[in-house]
Formats: sequence, structure tokens, C-alpha cells
Amino acid sequence: MKRFIIAAAAAALLMAPGAWAQDSLKPAGKWTAHQAGNAATPPMGWNSWNAFRTEVDEAKVMGAAQKLVDTGLAKLGYRYVNIDDGWWLKRRKSDGRMVIRTQIFPSAQPKNKKADTTFRPFTDKLHSMGLKAGIYSDAGYNACSQAYDLHSPNLPEGDTAERSVGLYGHVDQDIALYFKEWGFDYIKVDACGLNVYGPDREIVAKYQYQPFPPLIDSQSIGRTDVAKVKAIYSDIGAAIAKHNPDGDYVFSICNWGTSDVRSWGNEVGNLWRTSGDITPTWSRMLHTFDSASTRALYARPGAWNDPDMLFVGHGDFDANHLTEAKSHFSLWAMINAPLLIGYDLRDAPQSLIDIWGNAGLVRVNQDSGGNQAVLVHDTDDVQIFVKTLSDSNTKAVAIFNRGVADAEVTLTAEHLKLADGQDIKLTNLWTGEMTILSTEAPFKLKARETLVFEAAGPRALANGMYLSEIPGRIHVAEDGIVVRKPDPTVHQMISPWGGSTRGPGERPSYAGWGGAQADSTPYGQVLQISGQKFGSGIGVLSNSRMEVKAGKAFTRFEASVGVDDSGRTDGQGVKFIVYGDGRKLGETGELVYGTAAVALSVDITGVEVVELVAKSATEEQVVTWGDAKLLK
Ligand code: GLA
Repeated sequence: MKRFIIAAAAAALLMAPGAWAQDSLKPAGKWTAHQAGNAATPPMGWNSWNAFRTEVDEAKVMGAAQKLVDTGLAKLGYRYVNIDDGWWLKRRKSDGRMVIRTQIFPSAQPKNKKADTTFRPFTDKLHSMGLKAGIYSDAGYNACSQAYDLHSPNLPEGDTAERSVGLYGHVDQDIALYFKEWGFDYIKVDACGLNVYGPDREIVAKYQYQPFPPLIDSQSIGRTDVAKVKAIYSDIGAAIAKHNPDGDYVFSICNWGTSDVRSWGNEVGNLWRTSGDITPTWSRMLHTFDSASTRALYARPGAWNDPDMLFVGHGDFDANHLTEAKSHFSLWAMINAPLLIGYDLRDAPQSLIDIWGNAGLVRVNQDSGGNQAVLVHDTDDVQIFVKTLSDSNTKAVAIFNRGVADAEVTLTAEHLKLADGQDIKLTNLWTGEMTILSTEAPFKLKARETLVFEAAGPRALANGMYLSEIPGRIHVAEDGIVVRKPDPTVHQMISPWGGSTRGPGERPSYAGWGGAQADSTPYGQVLQISGQKFGSGIGVLSNSRMEVKAGKAFTRFEASVGVDDSGRTDGQGVKFIVYGDGRKLGETGELVYGTAAVALSVDITGVEVVELVAKSATEEQVVTWGDAKLLK
């Protein structure tokens, strides 16, 4: 309901001077999202870990690289060939230089045996094949294999200092070596060194590792030093940028969704893991997927949620389980996850090549708009995700049957935000089959099946874009979270590390609960202000600031705003303010729980960046920017 519209000049009179002092809520006047590296679309390629763990070697990696080229997967975009844990021999004592295990990477052995080992021939070879090269390290002194793969034949050797192969204390030296001297284009930086090498740990005493008082407690955000972890990754990011003046690099943060990386990963790297490791089981896949699938507003071109690498080809996703394998791949494509194959490609059956090679799904994943799919229908059984493609009349939609029973599903024009009653052409991206949907269409899904369609039709909002359709153009600069709480909606499986039910089970640990969401409140409820429901909009906590790239392409911003019905009934008021390139364009008075939605409508002609600020004195009031939209 439109109650009143306040223009900037009049609104100034309503402001209580000094009432809202939070600095981070001041308009930036520009798009401040970190833009570095080469990840305009989600990285694609191959990584050795899910195929070989530490038993990686040059023949295996080159075999994968050759197969990427020969099968046409490279042409489709699978460009990065990434070595994971296991490549190192030691850190040289005399000068700290890293030494490669040439037994498994023979091309790294220089002709003159006294010269330094080098990955240059390896990366040159990949580059000559039109591919790019990735390497792996850890942010602490030691890597994960040194704690978890103790029987590996490829663990670093030597004394304590020689086996301290991680970046800690050598950031500039190692990054210069990996990028400038060896010519890598991509680095994944793990976090076991910040996590499991505390002075009181058995492995530290037993293997005489350099102790590192843990900064990360994976089970407790309170016992994690978020600021320090962020600072360590930021230093690494700065070194990577310094040694890659052309900006052609990818920085992958691998701290498994800990340390509140949701709130800073996109300021520091190009992708950040949102969960612990994936395993080739359905329930673990659900877990890693859930940790990323409701965080569309935190990703955008250059910065992607990473639910971990693909496990297509193994276990529940092997060639005998193509329904599951296709679901896994479809879901990763839809949420703009990196598509990193984790399979020994040298003997991959065609049925698997066809999954990675699904050109329609790769196109969806690589769409230049960078809009992560938004959850538009949610149950524990079936979810529907919709992703707006850069040709805004086209959507990709995934209907995902999470469960073990067949499901009957109705897809509606409303889910798609396409015009009701008009012809919407659905193309099945697995079969090529076409269907026409007008108002709604029924589908039958097998257990664990995912149907994916490209949907083309006239838009419901003909003359503009709902903000929830364009998460790739939104930067959540401040999301208002004060108390970091684990997200209870992420699927919890029986521990994959031993498959037992001893103890209380893995409890929620990802501290993303309460973050900004598209078409939902921050706590997963339907958007609703004083009884009025909104199918479209942004849900966020108060004391938040979001930047929206309007790009001078629109003339009006409109939204119906207010305290959401899922908020605190006793909370104080919230003021909503809209800025355009730093200028205040409109604001509301102080709105309290139960107040009907207030219509904001402001002129944004010529505006590059719209900023949406919601301020309150109390913490954690739930607010709704209902039907928030940019109009032509
Ligand atoms: C961690 C990471 C994995 C892999 C291994 C290597 O578990 O999350 O992706 O890199 O370490 O040891």
C-alpha cells in the first residue's frame, strides 16, 4: 500500500540529527565491491584432489589436460588445470625457496641437477595447449595432507622448517615464485594451517610440526578469530595482486565456510568455500549445496560462492547414477559454482563427458550477468531455483527433487517472474525437449532428479528489473548481522569422516544465518509487511547498506518498505533511505513493527549506483524492501 512518498529535500527535515551515526551506513557514492583478478564468470576446469588426493603426478595431470582439449571441454570453458595438495617436497632451509617433488613432476627437474626445481616447463606446456595452470598452498605453516593424509607417499620431507610448506611467513616469496617465476594463473589457499596445528595437538608433537595456535574453530564461530583470518587472507590477496600486475589470476579461498567468510570472502578473493569438503554422497552434496544456495546476494561477477569441486563420476554420482550426477552438475551450474571436474579424465566414459559437456548448462553457469539462481520455492523435498540470464527475457529454472520419493511439481509463470497467461517457451537443457507454459505446468520428477529448463517469455515486470532478479548487480556492503549464528537450514548428514553416529552429530556451523536474501527474509520466511505479502523483494536486517549497479540504465527506483512481520514486535523503528551516486534521493520516517508498507519511489535518471540503507537503533530488526525494482 502506498502511504507517502518523501522527496529528498522534505525528508531532510524529518531526520533526527545525529540519530543514525553508524559510519558503515554512510553512502559510498560508488560501487565499492572488490574487483580484482580474472573471474568475471565462475572458474571452470579440472582439479586433482577429488580424483587422486595426494597421489597426483604429472602424467595424471597432463592426461586430464589433454582430455580437456581432445573432448572439446576446454573449448567449452574448462580452462584451469589445477594441482591440489601433494606437489611439494620441502621448503629449502638456506633461502626458504619451495622445492617441487620431481619424482612425481619430472619436468620440474632442471637439466643441471644443482639448479632450482621449477614448474615453468609444466605451466608452459599447459599454456601452449590453450589452458591455464593452478597451484595449491595453505595460509598457515602446514597443509591439510600433513594432518589428514598421513599415509601419503607425497608428504613434505625434512625437519620442521623444511616441512613448513604453507605460506605463513613466506607470503611474498611464495606468491612471487608461483605466479611470476613459475607462471601459474590460479591459487587455492587452504586453511588447515590456521586450524589443526595447535601446540597441544597430538600430531604436532608426534610429527614435530611448527605449532600454530588455531585461529579457526570449525564448530564455533565465537572461538574463531574472524579478523585475523580475514587479515591473513587479505595479505595473501594483496601479494597475489602485486605479483600479477596484469590482473590475470584467480584467488580461491578455502577455509570451508568458517570465519564468517560469507561476509568478507567477496572483498578478498574470487571464490570462497562455503562448507567443509564435499564427498561423493548424496547427503553431503546436499550439505555443501545448501551452504551456498541461499547466498545469491553475496556473489557477483568476480566473486563466487564455492560449494566445493564437482564429484561427478564418483560414488553416488558415478556412471551408474546418472540421475544423481546430472542433479549435482545442474545445481552447481545454477548457483554459479565453479565447475571444477574431479575425475581421472583419462578413462572417463562418454556418459560423464556428456554431463560436463552440457553446453546449455555451461552457458547458464557462465552467463555474463553473474546472477546466482534464487530460491523461489522451498521445501525439504523439492526446491525451485530461478536464474535470470543477461538477456533478461530468458531465465534458467531448476526443479530439484531432493528426496527419495517421486515428486509432482507445478511450475508457475510467477516462479519465473514471467508474464502470466502468455506463452513461455521451456527448453529442457538435458533432453532438448520443448514445452509451452502459460500460467503453470505440471512435472513429474524421479527421486533425486533435477529438471533444468531455459524459459523464454515476456517479463512480468515489462519495463524494468526486480532487484531479486539481478543479484549479480547487488553488493551487500553491510548486512546488519551483529551476532553471528550458525545456519540451521543447511542439510546435516551423518559424519562423512567415518560414517558413524557416535556423539551428538555434526551440528550447524556455517555462520551465515541472517544474511541478506533475495525473495525471502534473512531467516528464510516469505517477505511480508503488516500482512501484505511480497513475492519479490530483498530481505535483510536493519543497519544494512546495499549497493545496486543501475548503470545509468534506469529512471526510477521503487519499493514498498517496512519492518517485516517476522521481525521483533518490540523493536524500535527503522528508517529506509535511498541514495543515488551518494546523494540522498528519498527516505521514510521511522517505521515500526506492524506499520503498513511505505512506498518509496525516486528518480534515478543518470544514476550509476543506487544505495539502499535501513537504519535502526536496535540490532537485528528484520526489514523488507518489497517489490524493490529498477524501472526504465
Ligand atoms: C582440504 C580442502 C580440500 C583439499 C584438501 C587437500 O580438505 O578443503 O579441497 O584441498 O584439503 O589436503
